[in-house]
Amino acid sequence: MCGIVGYVGNQNAVPILMEGLARLEYRGYDSAGIAVLSPQGTQAYRRVGRVRDLEASLPRRLTGKVGIGHTRWATHGQVTEANAHPQASGDGRVRVVHNGIIDNAMDLRDALLATGSTFSSETDSEVVAHLIARSDSATLEAAVLDALAQVTGTYAIAVTDELHPDRIVVARNGSPLILGVGDRAMFIASDLAALVRHTTSVVHLDDGELATVTASGFRTFSRDEENTAKTPTSVDLTTSDVDLGEHQHFMRKEIFEQPESIERMLRGRLDERFGTARLDGLNLGPRDLRAFRRVKILGCGSAYYVGQIGALMIEELARVPADAEPASEFRYRNPVIEPDTLYVAVSQSGETADTAFAVREIKRKGGQVVGLINVVGSTIARDCDGGIYLHAGPEVAVASTKALTHMAIGFAMLALALGRVRDLSITDGQRLVAGLLGVPGKIKEILADEPHIAELAADLARARSLFFIGRVRGFPVAREGAQKFKEVSYRHAEAYQASELKHGPLALIDAGLPTVAIVPDDELTDRNVAAIKQIVARNGPLVVITHSSVADAEPNLRRITVPKSEPELDPILLTVPLQLLAYHAARTLGHDIDKPRNLAKSVTVE
Ligand code: G6P
Repeated sequence: MCGIVGYVGNQNAVPILMEGLARLEYRGYDSAGIAVLSPQGTQAYRRVGRVRDLEASLPRRLTGKVGIGHTRWATHGQVTEANAHPQASGDGRVRVVHNGIIDNAMDLRDALLATGSTFSSETDSEVVAHLIARSDSATLEAAVLDALAQVTGTYAIAVTDELHPDRIVVARNGSPLILGVGDRAMFIASDLAALVRHTTSVVHLDDGELATVTASGFRTFSRDEENTAKTPTSVDLTTSDVDLGEHQHFMRKEIFEQPESIERMLRGRLDERFGTARLDGLNLGPRDLRAFRRVKILGCGSAYYVGQIGALMIEELARVPADAEPASEFRYRNPVIEPDTLYVAVSQSGETADTAFAVREIKRKGGQVVGLINVVGSTIARDCDGGIYLHAGPEVAVASTKALTHMAIGFAMLALALGRVRDLSITDGQRLVAGLLGVPGKIKEILADEPHIAELAADLARARSLFFIGRVRGFPVAREGAQKFKEVSYRHAEAYQASELKHGPLALIDAGLPTVAIVPDDELTDRNVAAIKQIVARNGPLVVITHSSVADAEPNLRRITVPKSEPELDPILLTVPLQLLAYHAARTLGHDIDKPRNLAKSVTVE
């Protein structure tokens, strides 16, 4: 979704802004723009299309020491140059970049039109620039506060003003915004990825907070213009975390990072002696953990599917009723919030608006929420009462891979901790701890099978439509497999419970509709093999993801063999070949794998 960058310092802002925008490309966008302040006034350039198109359109000598930039993902108004940001006041003096949605933009626009303003875009953001320019306050800070007092909605904004050419004023309400502290320079960004090249010292703004940044530093303040105390924190990121390295795509890079990133995630969190997980960040002692009678998991998209894997793990290992629900649905009903339910918000970005809203609704009703979040310091992470950071490192490809495996492992650890204060025996606990410690090595084995998986993917990519089937533990795996496949290959991929095949979908099976079947070696293998036989009998092409101990159900069946783990942990490993299957299908089809059409990395607005 939309991205913001900004720079104030002694260097030329233009290359810094362009580099920052390129780092935000992964979030998904349709147009981009920058505005720089120079002695000649404001110079602004905008383009529909990629950041590189914008870069190609810039005059060679463009310089300025203060500037803001934006990648836009259209919400209000078409994808046009006029609607791209920065948006300007009527006289061009004030420039604004905005993420979020101004709810009362139409009313404000009508009022401004009635008093002589003319608008050059269809965006809600343009009204903010007009309101700031119309304020008769002496300082830019006061003018921004005047404008925001009239605005309802969500926003992260960054504002420049020719009357105050040494500064950028920013404000946050519901959309992320971070300040980066440099050497005689300040940076702003909506996402850490845009800052890592320049600084690891950052300040996360809170909702309702504003800041002024100049070359000599920053000042944060509240809507009542009271200074707020903010100390920069250090983030653990390097440019290699957000660079491609030897890989052609971030999706592949992130798939291949998993063995190492999982090892890092597990470090210090497993107790081999007592067969449990140490999850201090949850802020819950054994008595608290014992008191929960239910677990409710909330997430969106792939995070929701992993939530279903997590719910099964929790029911199996802790025998606590657990279920997952899309946060996007939960927030729009009137959910019953129970004091003895543990709510778990799961999100890679920690910024997904639907999940963030669900968390706030639960907290408003007095519920306890913990987070399984990847991005440290993100909105949801900060709103939760505690949590398990996923430590997957930055994930750039829109299609999530490593973060999901980390979520599944986070759930396994949570299930262990909940189980070990209940009836899960110490030997079972030790068995699962050993199983978790074995995951990184086993993922390496799966990744070594890439050439074979790529061949199968190239074949599957030819079908216009596919089924992914699984049963109980395998079903959420199939759902996530279908989601990944459709996100990057644009093929219709639908997941079904293998048990439901005969109740309808079997009607569609023929030689033109392949099925990817998840068949682990567990107590349901025979049932799964029976489903496969029904497909084979109808000439349906099959790829079976299975363990080597499962005998060939049919001659000539195409198989991807995954190393066996503890049965409760099988879903973690079974997911990995599905990532490679989706990646290579998209590659065969020549798609823009890291930035699939119509999708954004984190959906921070409605
Ligand atoms: C978007 C992305 C999905 C992702 C979902 C949740 O819809 O396109 O791939 O699974 O958001 O993102 P989160 O950051 O909350 O995990």
